[in-house]
Amino acid sequence: MKLKIDDIRSRFIEHFDGTTGSIYASPGRVNLIGEHTDYNGGFVFPGAVQQGIMAEIKPNETRKVRAYSIDLKDYVEFSLDDEKGPSASHFRYIFGVCREMMKLGVPVQGFNTAFAGDVPLGAGMSSSAALESTFAFAINDLFGENKVDKFTLAKVGQATEHHFLGVNCGIMDQFASVFGRKGSLIRLDCRSLQYKYFPFDPVGYKLVLLNSCVKHELASSAYNQRRKSCENVVAVMKKHWTDVDTLRDADFDMLHNVKSEISEEDFMRAKYVIGEKYRVYEVSVALEEGDYDAVGKKMFETHYGLSKEYEVSCPELDFLNEVAKSCGVTGSRIMGGGFGGCTINLVSDDLYENFIETAKKSYQEKFGKEPIAIDVVIGDGSRKLM
Ligand code: GLA
Repeated sequence: MKLKIDDIRSRFIEHFDGTTGSIYASPGRVNLIGEHTDYNGGFVFPGAVQQGIMAEIKPNETRKVRAYSIDLKDYVEFSLDDEKGPSASHFRYIFGVCREMMKLGVPVQGFNTAFAGDVPLGAGMSSSAALESTFAFAINDLFGENKVDKFTLAKVGQATEHHFLGVNCGIMDQFASVFGRKGSLIRLDCRSLQYKYFPFDPVGYKLVLLNSCVKHELASSAYNQRRKSCENVVAVMKKHWTDVDTLRDADFDMLHNVKSEISEEDFMRAKYVIGEKYRVYEVSVALEEGDYDAVGKKMFETHYGLSKEYEVSCPELDFLNEVAKSCGVTGSRIMGGGFGGCTINLVSDDLYENFIETAKKSYQEKFGKEPIAIDVVIGDGSRKLM
């Protein structure tokens, strides 16, 4: 993390009563493949990044949380017993996590906190999951004797999104943030929650994000609609095959069988999800064989599906994907929920510089701004720093 413990500490001291607390951190994430599969019971392939959120926290022996956002220079005070909570989203995440931990029976007490982050906001790198995981992990440590297991901590973050932010997200982001391990991607089966670490060191390649700088912040309603489409298709399939619970249980033949009973739009959405299910299996095999050409090919296919079938792309992301193709990049696709944010690119070392330069120049010419290149370094998950 570029964030420095000393910076957080000095702001905490300055902002509160001069004493110090404990410092916690949680990362954002990347996802190699498996997009919009988590809430469909499928597989995902995320890894934690070095960028994240860091917070200093100290119990204050009241029922109040006093929170200072260092980045936004914004301060709020809310009561743990309030039903509504603050309206600014950066504070709602903290409020939601407190309330969800309380629902689990953790005796949460008031605290002072100052926090900051270096995950770009709205870039599809899960800055919100990093914030949620930081506080879920810290509250468990400070007030819950660490009795809540890591999966439940991830689910607290997810429930916060559902109940306090109105985003019906899956489990991938919070899982990756809590469970991240340096140098490894994690393949998670979002139905059984079984997972496996995959050491990821593609010799001769780099993994690089290109942030389109189109913020996806207003995308939550479109995200929820995509999820609804998937559920519509499952409801129809269930009439024919009672054991279908999610699109994970469906194949292309089944989809074609119900085509006349669902909307054209829902058909396209489900087609993408079923295709993505197979792509993740193929990438798992390719990774085990070290076949990065095969991995890259699937990434391009995912981009196509996300853009043309799931329709969560935008002109800027499609453009960056085309630039990657024309530069001979091995694999490139939209990462995360879509509607802005980053592309993730698997590029061979010898093409790296030219790719970044070409992308910057041509994007600037077309959209009047430069994409930001972020080299991916896979880091650790939620932790206490001091
Ligand atoms: C967002 C959500 C995740 C996941 C991705 C798409 O990041 O928070 O749960 O659905 O989009 O794969």
